[in-house]
Amino acid sequence: MTGKDLFPLSEEHQMIRQAARDFAQNEIAPIAAEFDESGEFPSKTIKKMSEMGFMGIEVPEDYGGAGMDTLAYVLALEEISKADAAHGTIMSVNNSLFCYGILKFGTEPQKQKFLREIASGSAIGAYSLTEPMSGSDAGTMRSRAGRAGDHYILNGRKSWVTSAPVADYIVVFSLTEPEKKHHGITAFIIETDKPGFARGKKEPKLGIRASATSEIVFEDYRVPVENRLGEEGEGFKIAMTVLDAGRIGIAAQALGIAEAAYEASLTYSREREAFGQKIGAFQGISFKLADMKTRIEASRLLVYNAALAKERAKNSHSRFTLEASIAKLFASETAMFAAHAAVQIHGGVGYSREFPVERYFRDAKITQIYEGTSEIQRMVISRLETGLR
Ligand code: CAA
Repeated sequence: MTGKDLFPLSEEHQMIRQAARDFAQNEIAPIAAEFDESGEFPSKTIKKMSEMGFMGIEVPEDYGGAGMDTLAYVLALEEISKADAAHGTIMSVNNSLFCYGILKFGTEPQKQKFLREIASGSAIGAYSLTEPMSGSDAGTMRSRAGRAGDHYILNGRKSWVTSAPVADYIVVFSLTEPEKKHHGITAFIIETDKPGFARGKKEPKLGIRASATSEIVFEDYRVPVENRLGEEGEGFKIAMTVLDAGRIGIAAQALGIAEAAYEASLTYSREREAFGQKIGAFQGISFKLADMKTRIEASRLLVYNAALAKERAKNSHSRFTLEASIAKLFASETAMFAAHAAVQIHGGVGYSREFPVERYFRDAKITQIYEGTSEIQRMVISRLETGLR
């Protein structure tokens, strides 16, 4: 951030933020536009991020991770996303949607087998809840997993799976007892090199284009019972618990995008002249900058607060649903607000691919949609507050 930190950080947290910032600005920012244009998965930089411990930040060292806390995770993710939101998406899904679920609900052999590979960067993890006919209403999925001895046979089509085109392992949610609805959903860890698994249509996306997204299809895919995550019927609760963590990651990503949009706008407003003065001296521009800055700092406090709530929950088993949804809602709305203002402040060049604010604008939009739309976050927050539904 520019200026003084409003939130006091320990020396260790400042160090991880600085390391992430240096790496992101030196290695990711220079290639971001090129990978956005081509839509190619940025394997080399993701590999380097895993060498720095960024792909398994909260995974304990015993399982090959960096053994840091949630605040360290959001600080690093914010910096990576500020350089390129697509790298932020890949990092977020790997850390919170894959590793967190295995850490929280996995058996010891599952932790040993999957976390070590994912945290070290020798494999990529993904998470698959959504289906073509069930997005926000996640409980209405149709894919089926029937028990057959020491296996389950999985059939169905899942959609919008971040990192699916490159993932080695995917946490997949499927119906084992359809008549029980939410309580009939079970989670499985899928190995993508086994028969019966196929990658479907790759999504041609508006933004975060270097993060690969596709459908996945299961045709009589055999999942061994030891790859079931949690108990039968616990899948929906696992999906929601993991999304609580995921939403903090997306909030941190949104914060990074908003900061990038703000800093570009600040620089441009100090340099560009119109009607005989720097455009930042016009109230029309300076008030935009003030609103961006204010919303960014409020987002930051909400994101760090949610990270601390998640950290406390590690010892108390309390939920941090409210803090996560508030942070995700506010930070993603701020990212879109800031990116929109940044394009306007830049005028014509803001609309050009030669300046990065056009990419921030396209990237910001997804933060209001994935891992629960802004409308779903409002639903979660209001239900928790009113106790009504
Ligand atoms: N933690 C733990 N348990 C939870 C929970 C949470 N955060 N939220 C709900 N539950 C439990 C409830 O307690 C309830 O349990 P009981 O039946 O035992 O009481 C059960 O789950 C059902 O809860 P609801 O009745 O509230 O369920 P609902 O059908 O009304 O749905 C919802 C609630 C919040 C709308 C939920 O469906 C939701 O979050 N939808 C959005 C889904 C989403 O975010 N999808 C994005 C997928 S990932 C992605 O974007 C792609 C990617 O790769 C990044």
